[in-house]
This record gives sequence, C-alpha cells and structure tokens, in this order.
Amino acid sequence: MSHHDRVNFASKLGAVLAVAGSAVGLGNIWRFPYEAGNHGGAAFILVYLGCVFIFGLPIMMAEFTIGRRSKASTGEAFHVLAPHTPWRWVGYLGVLTSFLILGYYSVVSGWTLEYIVQAMTGGFSNKTSADFVNMFTDFSQNPFRPLCYLFVFILLTHLVVVKGVEKGIERFAKLLMPLLFILVVLLAVCSVLLPGAERGIEFLLKPDFSKVTPDVFLSAMGQAFFSLSLGMGCLSTYASYFGKDTRLGRTAMSVGIIDTCVAVLSGLIIFPAAFSVGIQPDAGPSLIFITLPNVFQQAFSGIPFLSFVCSTLFYVLLALAALTSTISLHEVSTVFLHEKFHFTRKKAAYIVSCGSLLIGIVSSLALGIWSSYTIAGMNIFDALDYLTAKIMLPVGGMLTAIFVGWVLKKQILRDEITNYGSLKVSFYPVFVFILKFIAPIGIALIFINELGLLK
Ligand code: TRP
Repeated sequence: MSHHDRVNFASKLGAVLAVAGSAVGLGNIWRFPYEAGNHGGAAFILVYLGCVFIFGLPIMMAEFTIGRRSKASTGEAFHVLAPHTPWRWVGYLGVLTSFLILGYYSVVSGWTLEYIVQAMTGGFSNKTSADFVNMFTDFSQNPFRPLCYLFVFILLTHLVVVKGVEKGIERFAKLLMPLLFILVVLLAVCSVLLPGAERGIEFLLKPDFSKVTPDVFLSAMGQAFFSLSLGMGCLSTYASYFGKDTRLGRTAMSVGIIDTCVAVLSGLIIFPAAFSVGIQPDAGPSLIFITLPNVFQQAFSGIPFLSFVCSTLFYVLLALAALTSTISLHEVSTVFLHEKFHFTRKKAAYIVSCGSLLIGIVSSLALGIWSSYTIAGMNIFDALDYLTAKIMLPVGGMLTAIFVGWVLKKQILRDEITNYGSLKVSFYPVFVFILKFIAPIGIALIFINELGLLK
C-alpha cells in the first residue's frame, strides 16, 4: 500500500475521540480500580498521575510522531524512519504484545456480554452480595460459557476491522465516548450516595504513604502504559491516520485528561459501593463484576425498572468501550500483516482473530480448570497480564522514548510537534529532555528497583 492509499481520520475531534476510544476501556473501569485497591488507593493514584504526566504524555507524543511521520503500521514504521537498523524489532515487539493483550483482554470483554444478558434477563434481581460472588465465580470458572462469549467478542472485533475501521472507528467513537462519559458520572453519583460510602471515598482520596512500596511504582507505571494504550505502537498506528493539521501535543493532553477522568470516576463507582456493601476493595480483578451489579441492585432497589435500564446500559457501554480498545489492538497486527506481507485485509484480520482466539481460550481456561498450571506463581491469565503490562509495555515505551529522543532527526521531531512550524510549542525543550533522559532513566530505575538490584 502506498502512502497515498491510506485513509485519514476526517476531523481533529474524530482523531481525539478515536484515540480516546482506544485508551478508555477495561483498563480504566476494570483494571484501574483493582490496581488502586491492591496498592493503597489514593497513594497509588498520586503515583499513577505522576506516571501519566512524566512518562505517559511525552511517550504518547513520541508514538504520534512515529506514526504520522512514517504513515506506516508500527511494524514498518521503525523501518521507514531508520532503515536497516535493529530498531525495527521494537515494532515487531509491539505487534507481538498487541496479540498477547488482545487474547486475554477479549476474555474479560466477553464477560461483559454475559453480564449484558444477565442484566437484561433480570439475573441481578433479588440477589445478595454472596450470590453475586458465586454468580461470578461459577461463570468465570466454567469451561464452556466464557469461551462462547470470547468467540463472539473476537468475531465482533473481526467484523469491524475487516470492513476497514477508519470511518467506522471514528463515527463509533464520536457517538460513544460522550455517552460513556455521562454514564460513568451518573453511576459515580449513585455510588457516592449509598449508605456508608464515605469510607470508600476516603480510601480513594486520602493517601496513605506507608503503602508506597517499590511495587507500587511498577504497578502504577504499568497501569499508565496499559490505560493510555502505550508502549506497543497502538497509538502510532492510529497516528498514521492523523491529518496534517492534527496537533500532537493537544491531542495527547486531551486523551490523557479523558482517560484519567474515566479511571478516577470508575474508582468513585467501585470503592464507595464496595465499602457500602462490605466487599474488600483489594478483592482483585473480579471487583467490577461483583460490586457493580450490587450497586444497581441497591441504588435502585425501589425502582426495578431503573435498575434494569441502568445495568443493561452500563454493561452495553462497557462492552462497547472494550470493543473500541480491542479494535485498536487488532488493527495493529492486522495492518502490519496487510502491509508487510501484502495479505488482503480480510486474510490478515482472519489470522489475527484466530491467533488471539487461541490465546484467549488458554487464558480463559487458566481461571478455571487449568488454574493449577502456573508461571512464577501466577496462573496463565495473570502471567500474561503481568508480562505485557508490567514488562513489555514499559520496555516498549522506554525504547520508543530513546528512539525519538536520540535516533530520530531533531528536525523531523520539531516538524511533527509544531506542524511544520505553524504552532508555537513552548514545552518543546522539556518534552525532548523527558524523552532523552527522564523517561528512559526513570523506567530503568523502576525496573532495577523492582528486581531488587538497588538493595
Ligand atoms: N487502553 C485500553 C484500556 O485501557 C487497552 C488497550 C488498547 C491497550 N490498546 C492498547 C493497552 C495498547 C496497551 C496497549 O482498556
């Protein structure tokens, strides 16, 4: 495919919302609350915010630069910008990472479909907290049902990607993102008003610095990369569809703000509700599938119809938010296979779907009948999450920062960030300094610390 065949997003707003669609997903609503819960609530959030601003936004702009400049898939982008160098392996690493994440991410995305069905068929009514716990464990450990939903979810992703997502993604995102945002705010309000919610709010907003261990830094950094879709060329792939007048700095800032707001609001949904119904906030990845149905039950206990509407709508939107993210993950590998090996888009998408289905099946079964197979003490599902979010994404982000900070010609970087000199970008020197020094050294230090080499 030549550069001129590539489609662009039609508008700047469309570009922002498409990237936000990739960023906002299960990472914000499902993963963020349990990471925060496991690592000291507000203290974690402060470290997280630091990671978003110090590493996240500059690396996002670096990915935008790579994508828009090369107008190529991430696997090819490094090759276009630095031909015949080992840097292309960073692109390939990204493609591999997208595959692995897509596999286990689709498992949880599939769960959202089960919960849509439950919400619509009245499966949440007249249940106690213990019933919700049982309902979730029975379902997620079942060897068959989650696999059906996994299949359906990957199929949905596949159908969108095959069609060519550019117009689809953009239109979808424009409609969906505002709707999702309204719903998240509404639910947060409901949760905060529950009896006994204050302890949850305090947990979320009052930092306890004794909980800040080295592990918190690694988790916060991993979460920042995961939530912002960084470190594996997902956003550089999207940026290859940016128009000439898209402002990279402003787009990164907008996406960072939207993503962080949704994450914190999700915390405001989960924690007050969790404390209110007496579930430990560090209860892990299942929080959203146990506490949320509970919120719907309790918040609207007098008005079953409202409970039905809100819970159905919420899981529909959660599924759609997950879908805009799986589309972006799928797109990375699909476009790579399409452009590198000249497969048709359909064939490329087919290969990616089958591969991720396999990974998905393994990670789904790892939560039930295969839970005794462990890697470093974790089941395969958790191991995949750890490997991708806490190792591969930060390493990919670090290499991206080094590439753009040190290898890419300064003139190219300046042209992209300032749109060929038409924008005044006052933070430019700080941005370059972060890419060259702060991000690589900071990420390396967090790793070294975590591995215990400093002690
Ligand atoms: N950011 C998405 C979320 O928060 C998940 C996601 C989409 C992602 N694309 C990615 C994570 C690329 C890492 C890398 O749910």
